[in-house]
Amino acid sequence: MLTGASENSGVRLLTVRELPAALQLSSLAGWNQTAAEWQLLLEVASDSCFCIAVGGVLAATATLIPYGSRLGWIGMVLTHPEFRKRGFARRLLTHCVGHADALGIRTLKLDATEQGQHLYESLGFVPEQTVERWIRSCPPSRERPVSITGKSSLALADDALAFGADRSQLLERLSRHSNCFAAANSYLLSRTGRIYRYLGPCVARDLKTANQLFQLALGNSSERECAWDFLANNHGAKSLAEDLGFGPHRRLLRMSRGEQLRSRDDLIYAIAGFEFG
Ligand SMILES: CC(C)(COP(=O)(O)OP(=O)(O)OC[C@H]1O[C@@H](n2cnc3c(N)ncnc32)[C@H](O)[C@@H]1OP(=O)(O)O)[C@@H](O)C(=O)NCCC(=O)NCCS
Repeated sequence: MLTGASENSGVRLLTVRELPAALQLSSLAGWNQTAAEWQLLLEVASDSCFCIAVGGVLAATATLIPYGSRLGWIGMVLTHPEFRKRGFARRLLTHCVGHADALGIRTLKLDATEQGQHLYESLGFVPEQTVERWIRSCPPSRERPVSITGKSSLALADDALAFGADRSQLLERLSRHSNCFAAANSYLLSRTGRIYRYLGPCVARDLKTANQLFQLALGNSSERECAWDFLANNHGAKSLAEDLGFGPHRRLLRMSRGEQLRSRDDLIYAIAGFEFG
């Protein structure tokens, strides 16, 4: 198992001490992640958050969350603008893929920006579908906040069915930083982001329940801007986002490598984040 620098590549594990620099990298790219999300990545994937440093400066990162051996999720592929085009992202991605193979992970996935797509294709990733980010300016609600359910009600069995792998450990930790809404084998988490309040993940048994959950979450939000990422295959999510006043902001491409994963996209009304799946 890799604990220090891997042979000749300069790739090594990211340390807690480097989290402020990691946050600076994602912020420079205009991303929404907070220090808490970086910390959470290190907690759930302590052996597979990788980086390259140059002269003590954090130059590039990539994270891999193993969801058992069924699925691995790659995220936070970032190179500091001053260190781009030196092959750092390629080295990190090659390392992530090798590490996942060594763990026996059957499927790898990620949500690619346009800048990353060519690299992922060259490493055997194939396009699956578009992931859309929609945003809305939501004025703080003047009504009293509605009650928020405890994390124990999260419908974890249905989540594994929908997502295709067991991500209960991630959800348990995410729920500590989130408002949690649950009803009828369905749930929605909502957490603070660096720029936007983030709505997701949401797994719901039908559109009506998803609608109730999003209305609750929006009613409880005191932040102006909210972001919601959904799979283009889930047409219900898109129509709901339109109805609730969200509009398109950006698109990423979900890509995968390895065995096909059985999932139920029709039950996923919001993803957990580009870095989480
Ligand atoms: C995408 C990114 C991580 C690439 O980092 P990098 O260290 O410069 O990449 P590398 O030097 O390893 O180059 C990898 C490949 O991507 C290509 N590439 C790098 N930057 C690119 C860019 N801005 N636009 C298009 N292609 C680019 C390179 O040509 C290279 O292809 P090659 O190996 O066939 O020549 C970096 O531009 C970045 O941090 N962008 C902002 C965040 C982002 O979009 N991350 C991707 C998330 S999925």
